[in-house]
Amino acid sequence: MRKNIVAGNWKMNNDLAQTQTLISELKEQSKTTNAEVMIAPSYVNLWSAFEATREGGEIEVIAQNMHFAESGAYTGEVSASMLKSIGIKTVILGHSERRAYFNETDESLAKKVDAALEHDLRVIFCFGEELADRKAGNEESVVGSQIKNALFHLEASAFKNIVLAYEPVWAIGTGETASPEQAQDMHKFIRQTLNDKYGSQVADDMTILYGGSVKPANAKEIFGKPDVDGGLIGGASLKAEDFYAIVNAF
Ligand code: 13P
Repeated sequence: MRKNIVAGNWKMNNDLAQTQTLISELKEQSKTTNAEVMIAPSYVNLWSAFEATREGGEIEVIAQNMHFAESGAYTGEVSASMLKSIGIKTVILGHSERRAYFNETDESLAKKVDAALEHDLRVIFCFGEELADRKAGNEESVVGSQIKNALFHLEASAFKNIVLAYEPVWAIGTGETASPEQAQDMHKFIRQTLNDKYGSQVADDMTILYGGSVKPANAKEIFGKPDVDGGLIGGASLKAEDFYAIVNAF
């Protein structure tokens, strides 16, 4: 059975005091039991966020990225075992901003996925086409190869620790959202791609999130689509009320 997840990707927002304030506001919001709720603060605030959410256990604190190496001379980077050592269980990998600004490739992402899974971290693996790809009608081939290149070396059993997040680049931070039908069509294609390689069990059990300008006003319609199992939320996750309006859209 696949899960519903709503995860807030805070990106490079919120210092320590702002992180603590937002977490206490989030804890005051009314809760739903229909979706797992996650937040991804910056590295520097992960530990304090983890501590602040320990009680109640309703919000999981997750990481935005990690390096594939175990340790060593990689200035500015953080390893899977460092994340594990402070209690982190889930990491976002392959976000389009990491691909665009930090040269992450399918090949380096495959290594990151392997390192995360070796450390029993759950991976939220992001991918999505750019506007030019969609205009050219290439969105399925781009998304298909992003998934295949970074994940299809894995055994079927590895997929129980993977969540997929379809984030069309043209809809991130732009206010432009894929229509619920566009999201559904792509999510169906993603599930079919998994089915073709790994069979129906892996495909049916896979949680596939949509990300790209999800807001309280459009969450219900997007989450209402049969192959959309939740969302990865950027801007709207920075306001407790908006984030929980999205969570409660389930
Ligand atoms: P926005 O919700 O701000 O468009 O960002 C989406 C995103 O990148 C989540 O990872």
